[in-house]
Amino acid sequence: MSSHGYFPTEAELALNGAGQTAFHERAAAATRAEFGSDVFVRAVVEVSNFCRENCTYCGMRRDNRSLARYRAQHEQIAGMLIEHRPASVTDVNIQTGEDPVAVREVVLPLIETLRRETSLGISVCLGTLPPELYAELQAAGASIFIMKFEAGDAAQYEQFQAPGTLAERLRHIRLLAENDWNVSSGFIAGLPGQTPRDLLKNLEMAGSLPLSGCSVSPFIPGEATPLAKHPTANPDWTFNCVSALRLMRPDWVIPAVSAFNLAAEDGYRRGLRAGANLVTINLTPTDQRGDYVIYKRDRFIMTEERVLTAIAAEGRTPSKTGLADFYRDKMANGTAAEKNSETAMQT
Ligand code: 5AD
Repeated sequence: MSSHGYFPTEAELALNGAGQTAFHERAAAATRAEFGSDVFVRAVVEVSNFCRENCTYCGMRRDNRSLARYRAQHEQIAGMLIEHRPASVTDVNIQTGEDPVAVREVVLPLIETLRRETSLGISVCLGTLPPELYAELQAAGASIFIMKFEAGDAAQYEQFQAPGTLAERLRHIRLLAENDWNVSSGFIAGLPGQTPRDLLKNLEMAGSLPLSGCSVSPFIPGEATPLAKHPTANPDWTFNCVSALRLMRPDWVIPAVSAFNLAAEDGYRRGLRAGANLVTINLTPTDQRGDYVIYKRDRFIMTEERVLTAIAAEGRTPSKTGLADFYRDKMANGTAAEKNSETAMQT
């Protein structure tokens, strides 16, 4: 079990130059000690861009009338994943805007088919839903729930019109963990007006939650959003947050997100170097991808080739063990919530 004595300083989060390189190398060493050179490889399919939320940072917000809304056919997505997924992919993340209709009509049947036809681990990122739906998703075969807390300050959470309230979001995260989901959360780094102090608050929030992983998304000003005119997140802050998370929780799974490439030249590789150990290959059908616009239409699509090239260039290897299997083996001696609260209590 790793020790959890570390918490970053504001100065560490603002590092650049040689000091930053040393900080990232410390985090990379912690990643290596826990995971070796392995990087988990997951595919993402974005199966609905309908959204009932209205987050001011997100291009899929319900007020964005410029977007063609779609729901995928679950048979098409299942067929593609069963027959054409890259060999390196061990897991799939099924993602939507917050769209309970798509959960019923697309996500649940898709999970059932994948469970029957493949050994893929199944993650979902679907927003806050009625608890009965969480249970149905779990019964169908999903085991990892991605629910980001977005901003760890209640006033800012409200200001950016993130879903519901921060308290409610945290309640859902805890509820999922108590019900044996592996929960990965995350926050947006560098939202307009945020300071390094806010980053610390996000890291503190992450450390207090019963999580198996956490992401850092650099703020990208979305074209059709109220925040379009604001600057992109400081990439140094972003990658320093990745390293801080890694040093806080050596055993967490921390993704390299495609937005790293929008925030910085070679951002994906910098993220891997700073402590990330999960990559995502985008397998959303190309005719639908264009309308799944979190940031802007000009997305940086992580193809199989780009992902595998980045892994190899950093001297890492695609993990043969899938993420869901890895968590299952780790949790074999207790529930996810017990395991997770054990680590949360050590802070
Ligand atoms: N910049 C960075 N991350 C964003 N997200 C949404 N919009 C933005 C943005 N403009 C992230 C949120 C959301 C996830 C799907 O994408 O954290 O939960």
